[in-house]
Amino acid sequence: MNAEGRSRLDQMPEWTALGAHRAQLGEPQLRDLFAQEPERAGRYTLRVGDLHIDYSKHLITEETLLLLRELAAATGVTGLRDAMFRGEKINVTEGRSVLHTALRAPGSAVIEADGQNVVPAVHAVLTKMATFADRVRSGDWTGHTGRCIKAVVNIGIGGSDLGPAMAYEALRAYTHRDLEFRFVSNVDGADLHEALRDLDPAETLFVIASKTFTTIETITNATAARAWLLDGLGAEGGTSRSSGAESGGEAVAKHFVALSTNAEKVAAFGIDTVNMFEFWDWVGGRYSYDSAIGLSLMIAIGPEHFREMLAGFHLVDEHFRTAPAEENAPLLLGLLGIWYGNFFDAQSHAVLPYSHYLSKFTAYLQQLDMESNGKSVDREGRPVRWQTGPVVWGTPGTNGQHAYYQLLHQGTKMIPADLIGFARPVDDLEPRLVAQHDLLMANLFAQGQALAFGKTPDEVRAEGVAEELVPHRTFRGNHPTTTILATELSPSVLGQLIALYEHKVFVQGAVWNIDSFDQWGVELGKVLARRVEPALTDGAEVPGLDASTAALVTKYRELRGR
Ligand code: F6P
Repeated sequence: MNAEGRSRLDQMPEWTALGAHRAQLGEPQLRDLFAQEPERAGRYTLRVGDLHIDYSKHLITEETLLLLRELAAATGVTGLRDAMFRGEKINVTEGRSVLHTALRAPGSAVIEADGQNVVPAVHAVLTKMATFADRVRSGDWTGHTGRCIKAVVNIGIGGSDLGPAMAYEALRAYTHRDLEFRFVSNVDGADLHEALRDLDPAETLFVIASKTFTTIETITNATAARAWLLDGLGAEGGTSRSSGAESGGEAVAKHFVALSTNAEKVAAFGIDTVNMFEFWDWVGGRYSYDSAIGLSLMIAIGPEHFREMLAGFHLVDEHFRTAPAEENAPLLLGLLGIWYGNFFDAQSHAVLPYSHYLSKFTAYLQQLDMESNGKSVDREGRPVRWQTGPVVWGTPGTNGQHAYYQLLHQGTKMIPADLIGFARPVDDLEPRLVAQHDLLMANLFAQGQALAFGKTPDEVRAEGVAEELVPHRTFRGNHPTTTILATELSPSVLGQLIALYEHKVFVQGAVWNIDSFDQWGVELGKVLARRVEPALTDGAEVPGLDASTAALVTKYRELRGR
């Protein structure tokens, strides 16, 4: 069903039916659900590609799942999904197609945006990226003084940073270990300073990643990086700005490449558009790391592994597009999030990977989920009367266990969580470190068990605990988790995982009837920052500054000695 003209979500009979079902369930207990349904562990699992997904530890029955699927059908999730895959302009507020799925489609596919098959252009850019990546990896691409590139510095922010930075960490074991990779995003000069302080300009390649090429953080850092390069090369390369080449001409051409949709701005910055890797406005920033935005990653892991990752994405795209509702993993995960967010008042969702390599995974998902579904008006612009996207948070599991898991286990909040782990450690781990893997995974399984089943007062007493301590040592349990297991964290598995979450976010946005593909909410802060800056720097009068902010600006200038 088209979103336009559909009934308000909270007036749909399917929504009301879920509310009634929730009331009827009362406080469902996982202990009881498992006792009533001994085959639950086997029944509530799904296999998608290499991902084994166990959702048995959820506060659901067969009826819950049925009602959730009916809600998905009534809200037109599959219709919107098909419209997305067809290239229709489902990003209504920006009038754009949403075609990140085309970035990982095989070359033979035909996917149209504005009547044009976009697949040939996608593959042409991939080929251009591969040629360039191979040249850098092999040492064939040299800097201005003829030396090989040893360090790649990606400058971007949001989707132009989080994706490649996350995937670089995730696939560290697949990277070219003789090349150094750094990711700079923060407009805080300290970020660039720390990234560059031990690098040699003659051996450094800057990858400027910005869809719009107007983002102030990125352009500011890129401008500073260009100055650092030209100053550094000055003596050795004879290219100081005073020597004539105002924007560094040839030196910039050898040390700067751009990833963008905006050729005009790239050229205005001084980067030759020959060294620009293009993508298109139908790729959202937070959905872009499998586009040209992944160039740093491709240099790190090589074109072959990059293509394996794209194949992993595509596998889950096809699953999402074709699998029946009962077996459709992104649909299921999206609906489970709605069950907790809308019918249990859960405010947040924890993503807890049991893999050091996934240290940036949750930060990446924060943008994907919260920028997509942090909305409070529906697609027709009416205020929503239901909860939308959750607060997504988390860090690698074992570290979290010694920090915030206390609250997960014994706090007052309901926080559904995803536990993600791998059967095998990466290949190049030393044998004595390989032995630690079972301990790592034992923690994942133990946490899933403890969160679900807790420890009753009687179980605590049976351990001889003093009566006054029994309440303190009791674990209520009943905290829902999804466990996602795969054999190993390969490029393909990473692609599968990201696509799984992308489509989960899509499903939720479709049910909530919000536009998951715009991000107007980040605009106001950007505009105000530009307005306030002159007040900080020159003490300029800023019209419309509220009294509190004006006082803070005055205090800032005083503390800075201005
Ligand atoms: O935070 C807003 C945003 O537009 C993100 O959606 C995007 O990923 C990021 O800024 C960076 O934008 P750009 O790639 O255009 O520099």
